[in-house]
Amino acid sequence: MGLIEIIESRLLEDLNPKVKIVLEAGRYLIEGGGKRLRPLITVLTCGMCGGDPEKAVPLGVGLEYIHAASLLHDDVVDGAQSRRGRKAANLIFGNGVAVLTGDYMYAKALQLFSTYGNLEMIRVVSEAVMEMAEAQVLELSKVGELITEEEYFRIIDGKTAVLFGACTAVGSMVAKREDYETFRRMGFHIGRAFQLIDDLLDYAGDPSKTGKPVGNDLREGKVTYPLISVLDKLDKDRVENLLRTPEPSRKEIDRLREEVIKLGGADKTRERAKEEIGKAMEVLESVEDSPYKEELERILEFVVLREL
Ligand code: FPP
Ligand code: MG
Repeated sequence: MGLIEIIESRLLEDLNPKVKIVLEAGRYLIEGGGKRLRPLITVLTCGMCGGDPEKAVPLGVGLEYIHAASLLHDDVVDGAQSRRGRKAANLIFGNGVAVLTGDYMYAKALQLFSTYGNLEMIRVVSEAVMEMAEAQVLELSKVGELITEEEYFRIIDGKTAVLFGACTAVGSMVAKREDYETFRRMGFHIGRAFQLIDDLLDYAGDPSKTGKPVGNDLREGKVTYPLISVLDKLDKDRVENLLRTPEPSRKEIDRLREEVIKLGGADKTRERAKEEIGKAMEVLESVEDSPYKEELERILEFVVLREL
């Protein structure tokens, strides 16, 4: 079995709640797909750092559970309709079951870390989750407002980059590297690039490939990098008005979305994501060559080249 198959089967095996509906809701999200980037990056970083990648599998699985828990919670907070091309779990099971299944998965992750990891890893992971929750609250408090580039990065660093940073830190810790901060930095930049592209896809993605409609962020009153990067060329009052409208029309959203793309907002976002990947590559280049490193390089390329 290859690493990805081992990860996939453990993801389903380790999720064994006694209450059937928790299993159904948990499986619904896990089986809905996902690229398993977090466990893959965890395991590959471990291998690249000279450790036994299989030892990192349960921890990578734990990190994917944390990601899954955060999505279950996020979809309730955002009142999302769809996720990974299917109805969002909150629509199928209700908000209560979605939130509590998220809690179960988060606790399951901590159990895996207490069994297969160590206290230092638990510190790194719990700090990441604290930052995720803070960033989500920050994002929520800015809904309907124009935000600065600095505020945007505070939000995406917390909601996405720190978890990727925890993955690479944990992977290197399994390999007993003391300089895990260097690897945490590598993951952090991968995560930043990932979220920048996610935000770009919300403007210029193909819903049949991403599994989500475009324009969600604007509809929810959220300002992201594509818009920030061309804001000086737009009428700020008009943008603010749209952001504050509780249910803006599809036509208005599409008009602003297309204008942002035409003004170069999508291209600038991809360029910014490439810069972040460049910073992650610098760390990769400092490490000895190996098949794990090559696989990580491929993942880094995939992050910025993801389909529009
Ligand atoms: C998706 O963002 C959401 C996140 C990346 C993080 C969500 C984090 C939390 C809810 C706090 C942590 C909670 C736990 C239980 C670990 P998005 O709305 O921009 O992306 P989307 O379009 O995929 O919904
Ligand atoms: Mg969301």
